[in-house]
Amino acid sequence: MIKVESYIHPLIEDFLNKTNLLSKFKEEDSPIHLLFPQIMENHITQFKNIFKDNFECNTRIYFAKKANPSKIFTQVALDNDIHIDVASENELLDVLEIGFEGSRIECTGPKSDSFLKLAIEKNCLISCDSINELIRIISIKKEHNLENSKTSILLRISNPRISYGNITLKDSRFGILIEDLDECYSLITQNSNSIELKGFHIHRSEVQRELKAEFIKEMITQVIKTREIGFNTTIINIGGAFSPLHHVKDIHSYRDYLNILSQKLQHNEHSENWRNDFYDLSLINNQVKGLQILKQKVYQGMFNKLSYFNEILNTNFNEHITISKILEELNITLCLEPGYNLLEQSGISIAKIIDVKKYKDNSYISSCNINSSNISSTFFESLCDPIYISSSDENLNNYNNINSSLPTKVIIKPQSNASKMYLFGNTCSEDDILMRRPIYIENNNNNNEPKIGDMIIFTNTGAYKSYFQDASPLMQKKSKYFKVTNIDTNNWEILEENDN
Ligand SMILES: Cc1ncc(COP(=O)(O)O)c(C=O)c1O
Repeated sequence: MIKVESYIHPLIEDFLNKTNLLSKFKEEDSPIHLLFPQIMENHITQFKNIFKDNFECNTRIYFAKKANPSKIFTQVALDNDIHIDVASENELLDVLEIGFEGSRIECTGPKSDSFLKLAIEKNCLISCDSINELIRIISIKKEHNLENSKTSILLRISNPRISYGNITLKDSRFGILIEDLDECYSLITQNSNSIELKGFHIHRSEVQRELKAEFIKEMITQVIKTREIGFNTTIINIGGAFSPLHHVKDIHSYRDYLNILSQKLQHNEHSENWRNDFYDLSLINNQVKGLQILKQKVYQGMFNKLSYFNEILNTNFNEHITISKILEELNITLCLEPGYNLLEQSGISIAKIIDVKKYKDNSYISSCNINSSNISSTFFESLCDPIYISSSDENLNNYNNINSSLPTKVIIKPQSNASKMYLFGNTCSEDDILMRRPIYIENNNNNNEPKIGDMIIFTNTGAYKSYFQDASPLMQKKSKYFKVTNIDTNNWEILEENDN
């Protein structure tokens, strides 16, 4: 019996202590996503302070809206004076409506002509994804008489050169090849009345600090080169993808879990996971392969932004100067586009059990009122245990007692008589699995049997998980999103997004 408890943000723990979720959502059949704007606000403050207190270079933060398109989080970005990164025309329209001015908006990713035209009209910064996009920007400006103001662009680099160990980067479908940059420079020079090259952009999914440092070095090199040929380049944008990690309360429990899983694999025993799954671990010459990747996916508590950026920015640019110092000396603004890291722990998602059946070895199969796309579990399957609330606790609980600490019955702390339960979604697909690992539950009244109406709460779903793949393929009830705020020390307010 193995438990891997999720880390729970203190604000969410406080909310859970003071809120009777069972009665609040008793009549609700939809997948429920609760969003906590105060947590995003805390992240913004942390990011700002880290750069203000530790580095002299100028920095600018763009919230990558794709991590969660809810107006709730966009409003937080607006109110906290950061910038925003949009990746579609509708995202752009949405942030304009909420009140962002073009000067605080960057447009990234592949773009349609109408997206480009709107971005040009609103004077947004455009991260140019290809030579063809650059040519399209130039011709849209000509065609629509938009040449009276200069459009600021970044060139997104696809294949930065790195000299770190013997790592070779995988090809990216995004951005412009280094070898094609000279062609871009000529095009921009020929159209210097209407296009202004502001700098460079690299967003790649590799999270390693050493590689992020290499990417920044590549962009500084390009800034130096372009200044020599006459451009006034002042921006480098390192994108996002800093640490899309699962947060566990105690890393040792997770390591123990992996050890047991490895031993089971080596001894040809059942993994306990659904269909004997081993999370891509494999056995080659009796050695377990793939453990390192699984280990790296999980972090104890919250991700440490300071140590991450310290290591990157204190890397040497050359033998004389660090990255942070050269950025300062050359007066280059370092831009970041965090999505995940501004929304870490900013949301939880609630599923209810709609059907239960007994399965082998005293275990249960529970189907929930959500499917795996409502919490993007095919993309970001939870490796940590969700919170379980037994429906029989509705009248017993004292969650409204502000002095209570989170009731232990809420967190899964399996005893030997706990029940094992597999969690599935509400579609007809065999693959609609919410978690491959079983969870162990205890409840006061039902002999530890799961029951219809019991709640399963997935943590850390604010970024991507609650939106990115959200779908109701069988016309099930659609997801509902709620803003949760701490209105005073004793009370939390829950408002449905449409009501805001
Ligand atoms: C261009 C760009 N910037 C920023 C991000 C945000 O990345 P993350 O949420 O991992 O920080 C993405 C994510 O896909 C992206 O494509």
